[in-house]
Amino acid sequence: MSEIADKPQIATKPLKDLPDLQTLVALCKRRGFVFPSSEIYGGLNSCWDYGPLGIEVKKALKEAWWKAMVYDREDIEGIDAAILMHPRVWKASGHIDSFNDPLVDCKQCKARFRADHLGPVAKIEKETGNIPTIEEMTELLKGMNCPNCGSKGTLTEPRLFNMMFKSHMSAIEDEANLVYFRPETAQGIFVNFINVQQTCRRKLPFGIAQIGKSFRNEITPGNFIFRTREFEQMEMQFFIKPSENDTFFEEWKSSRMAWHESIGLRKEKLRWHQHGESELAHYCAKAFDVQYQFPFGWKELEGIHDRTDFDLKNHQEFSGKNLHYVDEEKNKFIPHVIETAVGCDRSILTVLADAYRFNDERVVMQLHPKMAPYKAAVFPLMKKPELLEPAQNLYQDLRKKFRTDFDVAGSIGKRYRRQEEIGTPYCITLDYESLEDKAVTIRHRDTMKQDRVAVNKVMDYVESGLENWE
Ligand code: GAP
Repeated sequence: MSEIADKPQIATKPLKDLPDLQTLVALCKRRGFVFPSSEIYGGLNSCWDYGPLGIEVKKALKEAWWKAMVYDREDIEGIDAAILMHPRVWKASGHIDSFNDPLVDCKQCKARFRADHLGPVAKIEKETGNIPTIEEMTELLKGMNCPNCGSKGTLTEPRLFNMMFKSHMSAIEDEANLVYFRPETAQGIFVNFINVQQTCRRKLPFGIAQIGKSFRNEITPGNFIFRTREFEQMEMQFFIKPSENDTFFEEWKSSRMAWHESIGLRKEKLRWHQHGESELAHYCAKAFDVQYQFPFGWKELEGIHDRTDFDLKNHQEFSGKNLHYVDEEKNKFIPHVIETAVGCDRSILTVLADAYRFNDERVVMQLHPKMAPYKAAVFPLMKKPELLEPAQNLYQDLRKKFRTDFDVAGSIGKRYRRQEEIGTPYCITLDYESLEDKAVTIRHRDTMKQDRVAVNKVMDYVESGLENWE
């Protein structure tokens, strides 16, 4: 394995960060990461489809999360609960009464806004860290012009809007058959707490993890896959004794921040934000968000919540079932819960936005190899049978171990550009010299460094490179 002496190493020009979200949306569409949903019909507001490359990132993310939560630990079990649940669940959880956003309409242009995102309200929130009450919002918004059409006095007073999607079970569309699409996966875990604890003979503390779709009828979805109405969550509820909240809260805070760094996010782009009193969700005693610095500002990526015994206590009351836990000393109590809740789609956006680098010559997605859709790509220098055959053989070998691409179209330079744009860590070129020296050139995505490597050593070379990635 030696560097090629006769090929000069290309000096890497400095790379810049993602300039704006639109640039990423365009790349995602162009390269098959994410497409607008139902695009041939003009799309559906805030709905997106993952393409052949996007689904690979999504799968990699879920696998990394599941591994960290369920496989690498001995104190967490996994489940997969139904999206549709008994309607009483949502009464007990407080979502029917309290899962509301303040809504404001413009009577002139019909634009719709979240009152807490409008100038005067957002300003107070920024200054005090607290979201004003609905009465305070009404006062603050009095006399404000419509941010969309500029009309005076056309904004309605803010009113609360429940964000749960509703449907009917069975053919009769009446109140009695009302069901809700879950707005968080967490409730599937709470209602299965006793099932899991008993079948797995678990003692506190232990956790339950789940990945699944959630639905919220958001007033203002947007920023690509950041806020959508249908999205996937990766949530874990950790059941503890009532006195242990602070200890486990801190443990989960550090563990989750470390996870985001382990999938390649830059430390300096991550920070903590503690929820102020009025920002707290109805089930929360304490909440810290992991925030990421997106091109549209610092925003929530994940929430760590102290849910106390709120959910289990309410489910016990509403279901009439005993949800107590009895410890070794025969103390009987309702467990408390520390929750970690991250959006899978939001995490994908973060990974892609963080990886995007460019200069006037190239766009390179510096994805952590764990997140890269392809780990390697094989190029025969030319479309000639004597090169195609050995290149195909190498490709077929590699793809048994990890996802590998094969590309014969265009100049080698063009093929490098294509792989850089989708974040492939290694490009492997088989040229005429390869037929003599039985070696190929391996080019590194980030440094553009090239090594000449014996064909029978390529697998080891790439594998060890992926494993020891810095
Ligand atoms: N069980 C707690 C819970 O659901 P949350 O802060 O409302 O807490 C957790 O949501 C995470 O789910 C958020 O940090 C975000 O990553 C993701 N999320 C929430 N609403 C979302 C939406 N409309 N679109 C995409 N992701 C969303």
